[in-house]
Amino acid sequence: MAIRDDIFALLYAADDYVSGEQISEKLGISRAAVWKHVQALEQEGYTVEAVRRKGYRLLPNGIRAVEIEPYLQTKWLGREYQYLTEVDSTNIYCKSWADKGAPHGAMAAADLQTAGRGRLGRAWSSPPGSGVWFSLVLRPNISPDRAPQISLATAVGVAAGLRELGYDAGIKWPNDIYIGGRKVCGMLTEMRGSMESVEWVVVGIGINCLNKELPPEIKDIATTLALASDKPVVRAEVLAMVLNKLEYYYSMLADEGFADIRREWLANNITLGKRVNIRTLNETFFGEALDMTEDGSLLVKREGGGEYTLVTGDVFFA
Ligand code: BTN
Repeated sequence: MAIRDDIFALLYAADDYVSGEQISEKLGISRAAVWKHVQALEQEGYTVEAVRRKGYRLLPNGIRAVEIEPYLQTKWLGREYQYLTEVDSTNIYCKSWADKGAPHGAMAAADLQTAGRGRLGRAWSSPPGSGVWFSLVLRPNISPDRAPQISLATAVGVAAGLRELGYDAGIKWPNDIYIGGRKVCGMLTEMRGSMESVEWVVVGIGINCLNKELPPEIKDIATTLALASDKPVVRAEVLAMVLNKLEYYYSMLADEGFADIRREWLANNITLGKRVNIRTLNETFFGEALDMTEDGSLLVKREGGGEYTLVTGDVFFA
């Protein structure tokens, strides 16, 4: 992997074409090997122009640290950054990093996840060269029963980042992000702590960005930024903008409590007032989403009578 990173660095630093010969001499590898690594970079979503007698030129569209840096305005979020070309799951990676002492705000992102995980034990499709798949290590000073508020603050931050980039992003309870009636981003929050305190929270976020095609099982319910608009999608900008907003809202949650996050969530939600199908571990029913409670649960008016407060479960538009 190190060689691929070295070739990336050489091409990224150059203003013009770099010949295969120059690269092979600098790195002490054959020109065939250079070509192989260039193809691997293309798998990662980079466009590398190869022109005879001139060499290679990189058109960057990845999420390496040097690429997100120009857009990143955070103080502490994502500053300790591990970029991985391939990993099983950035959540698994960050949980073990957190156990080994990763600081508050540490981030891992991958171009490809071989075992990307979604909520409720589902798989999360994470092909190379297409998305922004990343996880954050947070060490919030809150009681464990308030941990779901971190997921809600995350949804507010991601939606704000995408809105800043011009996408009409809305939140489906608790924290799915939708554009044009389809899911573009999901989150998986995991935690270690005791009854009294939280040791760490790992927030995993997956944003579908560049892919123009989706797997058959999700193609009718999901979308990507590239499908949602004709604008060019710069993955580094997407990641950095989302981080900028997340830092703002995580700080708001820490400094001012949940009420302001709830207000932002309400202002950007697409859930309330809709007919929904609720699925919990024990039952499935229809109703109307009425409100988000003061602590982040979803209040639902059941068809047939009565109200239900949903703490965990799935919400589908019906
Ligand atoms: C969902 O909507 O079910 C949650 C999807 C969460 C996907 C992200 S991608 C980065 C991080 N790593 C994972 O394995 N999952 C999360």
